[in-house]
Amino acid sequence: MKHKPDQPSANGILPKHIAIIMDGNGRWARERGLRRVKGHEEGINSVREVTETCSAMKIRQLTLYAFSAENWKRPKTEVFYLMSLLERYLIHERPTIMKDNIRFTAIGRLNKLPAGVRRELKNTSEVSARNTGMVMCLALNYGGRTEIADAARSLAKAVDAGELNPSRITPRVFAKHLYDPQMSDPDLLIRTAGEMRWSNFLLWQASYAEFFVSNVFWPDFREPQLMEAIEAYRQRERRFGGLSRKP
Ligand code: FPP
Repeated sequence: MKHKPDQPSANGILPKHIAIIMDGNGRWARERGLRRVKGHEEGINSVREVTETCSAMKIRQLTLYAFSAENWKRPKTEVFYLMSLLERYLIHERPTIMKDNIRFTAIGRLNKLPAGVRRELKNTSEVSARNTGMVMCLALNYGGRTEIADAARSLAKAVDAGELNPSRITPRVFAKHLYDPQMSDPDLLIRTAGEMRWSNFLLWQASYAEFFVSNVFWPDFREPQLMEAIEAYRQRERRFGGLSRKP
């Protein structure tokens, strides 16, 4: 790669993979005297706008943290509502996903999700499998540590079956056992609602992601806020543990 001392190494280019921790739905609703679930409902409109904008900008992948492995601790009624919202989202947004040529995928322990959600995930993934535009990935019942533990178990099985020599386990080989071996590392990791936590999201993949924290609640995170995050990313200097290119 050519050395360009006066330019940041993100070099003004767009992130290829954007990952988002969508936070603040509950607070958005509370501020308006509404029930928490109204925040999730409005959050769907942000999901739609951010997805369409990323797709139009030719971002290669968008990964959204929609339900963490820890979110089961929430009241049963909220979990039930989130699951039914997800099922409806998958049905209603399918035509748009197809119109925009988006390939839909999901990561997480998907087999623990309700049957209706699993069915619609399967349908949306299957019908969009040949689409060639942006990859949209929902992280559902997802935990970064669980993903790493699941990958370790899968590697151990391969070793046990005599298919893999432990001395050949490198980060590259390890990554092939993650939920989506095709997934590129996120370049930009956005979190909304002003929280400065990583929250167990893409722990392996986001090692060198650039963080951007937005103070707005997820239901208010729309195209202008996304553009602000992307602009901030374009100004960043990415060193990946190396030295600054600036003199
Ligand atoms: C965090 O807000 C948000 C979630 C736990 C769920 C995110 C879900 C959606 C945006 C809707 C469903 C998404 C799809 C893709 C169908 P919070 O409830 O933790 O907010 P709080 O911290 O203010 O309480």
